[in-house]
Amino acid sequence: MENLKLNIEQIYNFVTKESVQAYSEEIKTHIQALHNKTGEGKDFLGWVDLPSSINNTRIIEIEKIAQNLKNKIDLLVVIGIGGSFLGAKSISEAMSHSFSHLKANSEYPLILFAGQNIGEDYLAEMLEILETKRYGLVVISKSGTTTEPAIAFRILKNHLEEKVGKDRAKELIIAVTDAKKGALRKLAEQEGYTTFIIPDDVGGRFSVLTPVGLVPLAIGGVNIRQLVKGASDMEKLTAGTVNIWDNPSSVYAAARNALYAKGKKIEILVNFENKLHYFAEWWKQLYGESEGKENKGIYPASVDFTADLHSMGQYIQEGERSLFETVISVKETVQKLTIPKDTENLDSLNFLAGKRIDEVNKMAELGTRIAHVDGGVPNIRIEIPKLNEYYLGQLMYFFEKACGISGYILKVNPFNQPGVEAYKNNMFALLEKPGYEEQTKKIKARL
Ligand code: PA5
Repeated sequence: MENLKLNIEQIYNFVTKESVQAYSEEIKTHIQALHNKTGEGKDFLGWVDLPSSINNTRIIEIEKIAQNLKNKIDLLVVIGIGGSFLGAKSISEAMSHSFSHLKANSEYPLILFAGQNIGEDYLAEMLEILETKRYGLVVISKSGTTTEPAIAFRILKNHLEEKVGKDRAKELIIAVTDAKKGALRKLAEQEGYTTFIIPDDVGGRFSVLTPVGLVPLAIGGVNIRQLVKGASDMEKLTAGTVNIWDNPSSVYAAARNALYAKGKKIEILVNFENKLHYFAEWWKQLYGESEGKENKGIYPASVDFTADLHSMGQYIQEGERSLFETVISVKETVQKLTIPKDTENLDSLNFLAGKRIDEVNKMAELGTRIAHVDGGVPNIRIEIPKLNEYYLGQLMYFFEKACGISGYILKVNPFNQPGVEAYKNNMFALLEKPGYEEQTKKIKARL
């Protein structure tokens, strides 16, 4: 079986091999710290050996409950935000038919997401759709107290109860939350929902292989066994016993830090397969929340090519030279479509006749790489053989491991997120939440 391939050759016009290799010794230390759970944020390293710890019994339990719920519903609303949203969203998007919302008679419910914003129109319009559909809810919150999903759950729970009755609603709601603490745990126990536990030692952005990702994905028909298998194989390929220069996660971590040290402060994750759009959103949370602290960190950005070549392509080619690109390339498409010959050739496209669409896409990728490298943008390339659950599992674990190593190189704690509290405190003060009286006074005086 082929594995994900990483190629960093196209960074060497900008940084030396020595500057990448200079990270050797510290990477060895960082990998040991991750595996021995001795580094910064050591209470949140449960993700390191998570894939290999997921046994068949756990998968069967999730599959059984998923099977039971999916037969009762046409739509599944997954409620969560941040790490309790992006893992499931990214895999679901990557594995879905591009027009799944228009496909009739699917064996699996369509997945919708709520609680990832506070859009009144969004929720009201969702209720309009749910009115005529059979639906279920998976509500996900590790803390059990996050405002956005809590609001969405209150509204959707009320709607479902009114629609099908309280007893029936209970059978259609699954809660994924902390084992003991938080408002959602209390509510789920009181109402008698099926619940799944988010382990204490796995933070939100590393939680896709816990029930946070696995439960909704299994209900939506994603092959979670393959997802876990891919991650588990990558766990082996990036283990502490592997030579660090054969370990793709440490090579990537070293490459991006060498570029950062040379002033390349923005990393753009590029795809040429637009089903990976939300994968990049997941990646941005992983790196942004892990590394962006103490006034440090590479800013993670993303583009969908070739669409964004017609917009952001200008900046990437000729704007400020503080960028590098990391391209995820999918070697083989699932479908095959050939460009036809046209006798009149009014569009002058006959030079492409007989070629697969993907051949054009691959030449767009190669042409872009050459142009951007020529324009001063270093390029890291990650190739996966196919877009399937197995390789998405490999990719996710690869990025997680690299993120841990890279955060340690940067000398930050990659497993906390103190900065996300600031907006919440202001919002609560402005909304006059009980307990925030002092902050309310202070913030209102500033307005
Ligand atoms: O990575 C994180 O910790 C955050 O993005 C959280 O996942 C997000 O804030 C949601 O938190 P919770 O699952 O507690 O509702």
